[in-house]
Amino acid sequence: MATWSAPGKVFLFGEHAVVYGKPGIAMAIKQRVQVTVRRCRFAQRPNSPYIAECLKFLDVKASVYVRSQLPSASGLGSSAAVTVATLFAINDEFQLGYNKEEVTGFAHEVEKATQNGRASATDTYVSAYGGMVLIRGEEKRRLIPPENFSIVIGNTQIPHHTAELVRKVAEFRKSSPAVANPIFDAIGAIAMEAMHNFDNPKELGVLMNRNQSLLEALGVGHPALTRMNEAAKNAGAFGSKLSGAGGGGCVWAVCPRSARNRVMNAFESCDGKPIPTAIDMEGVRKEADY
Ligand code: MEV
Repeated sequence: MATWSAPGKVFLFGEHAVVYGKPGIAMAIKQRVQVTVRRCRFAQRPNSPYIAECLKFLDVKASVYVRSQLPSASGLGSSAAVTVATLFAINDEFQLGYNKEEVTGFAHEVEKATQNGRASATDTYVSAYGGMVLIRGEEKRRLIPPENFSIVIGNTQIPHHTAELVRKVAEFRKSSPAVANPIFDAIGAIAMEAMHNFDNPKELGVLMNRNQSLLEALGVGHPALTRMNEAAKNAGAFGSKLSGAGGGGCVWAVCPRSARNRVMNAFESCDGKPIPTAIDMEGVRKEADY
């Protein structure tokens, strides 16, 4: 039996555009998924398509138990965390001998296979390595997170379907490349500007709001996301935007320390659930078996 855990993430800037080679920035958060894998000849087929794909990818038979602090289908990277923790636990339980880089690469392949071939390496990489990461195509750069970078997450509690939203954006790009491609370019440019503004919350807020508008132009907004973003800004946040695939799920806001409670109350006032969090610097780790 082997137990591993991996953190979730907030997609800070660049989601969707990152699938087409533009820069994206994500940050691992303290909420984790813990996965126990036990070698077993007659295991039931797992409910999660991500776990089923992990077992198929490494060609093993095992039972898999998951305990999660992350809401699923919410833009906080629970599928990637499950995938990463499952693959590391399989590698350990079956003594396969792959190194961290290799297993992290497998996690990206598993995500791609379950998302019709379209997934950036962002969610799986940040879950495996922790911290704040910039992804652009094959390039993966660890960023130095600013001290006192404090965010508030709000969950609309409306689940989304990442593969479906990624497919919808791909269709838009196919049918209207002249409109979609400049939107991806603008989202990428915002991510690059954001990289230099993490210690300037006011400017960061402006960039977040612009990124949110461009995501809406891509068709991945949702009235509940708009309500939460507006409520956060009215409560004193510098900026607020969705995290991940959109169409529901979570938003994150940057605000002065003095406005944190007001922003959390604002999320609750529009049926959202505030999720206090902090950055995780550790990434995937082995846990004690119990
Ligand atoms: C999902 O968390 C982020 C997307 O950009 C998809 C991906 O990067 O694979 C929507």
